[in-house]
Amino acid sequence: MLRVENITHSFKNGNEWTPVLHNINFEVKQGEMVALLGSSGSGKSTLLNLMAGLMKPTEGEIHIADHNIVKMNENKLSIFRRKHIGFIFQAYELITSLTVRENVELPLVFQSVSPSIRKQKSLALLEKVGIPDKADLFPSQLSGGQQQRVSIARSLITEPSVIFADEPTGNLDSKTEEEIISILLQLNKTMDTTFIVVTHETDVAEQMQRIFTLRDGYLVPEKGDSAEMVTQGVTNIEN
Ligand SMILES: Nc1ncnc2c1ncn2[C@@H]1O[C@H](COP(=O)(O)OP(=O)(O)O)[C@@H](O)[C@H]1O
Ligand SMILES: [Mg+2]
Repeated sequence: MLRVENITHSFKNGNEWTPVLHNINFEVKQGEMVALLGSSGSGKSTLLNLMAGLMKPTEGEIHIADHNIVKMNENKLSIFRRKHIGFIFQAYELITSLTVRENVELPLVFQSVSPSIRKQKSLALLEKVGIPDKADLFPSQLSGGQQQRVSIARSLITEPSVIFADEPTGNLDSKTEEEIISILLQLNKTMDTTFIVVTHETDVAEQMQRIFTLRDGYLVPEKGDSAEMVTQGVTNIEN
């Protein structure tokens, strides 16, 4: 459902081009849960933003649900993104003037879905992420972990084929991190949504089905599931 082909990316500063990603290739199946692991500066966010269609690569193709998003014009891409792609940010990015429920419903407002259906869907998702009682509060009245649950519910409300999460637990303490990761694992199991989760923490990555490691902009694919990797004592995932 997601295919990254020969992706190379450079950023331009003045007259100089800084290469950030080198010839990245991989494929992800519908319903898979993938960690994108690597130390700070290895190119994780750049790759995620390219896959989410937030910017265009210098070279290469990205196919999502049989569409090459690199070739799409801005207009088509923004419609495609709304329908097929969800995004979870490290800093939640909720709208402070809207209630929890209004934040979760917002993507459906852009799709002109009726208020009653929006309400029904948002309340069901708030239940799924474990905060059904917070619907009428504002983001500032919630803890960081609760705000991230809201942002997870928002990312799911359009029933996207794939959700991209950039260090979703990067601002959270380790106990809250565990809760958020287990919610993502549970949602992946029950909803058949594909998740690509960026992290710099090996123990977070090891809970996912597959791990792709980025090192200085190069991809080191890690095959097999986490249980296998632990029993085989694989230790070559560097941070
Ligand atoms: N907009 C940009 N302009 C120039 N360089 C950038 C830009 N965004 C990221 N970079 C550089 O690209 C490299 C990879 O960054 P990033 O993808 O954010 O890594 P990560 O998310 O793994 O920390 C870093 O060296 C960073 O400084
Ligand atoms: Mg990053």
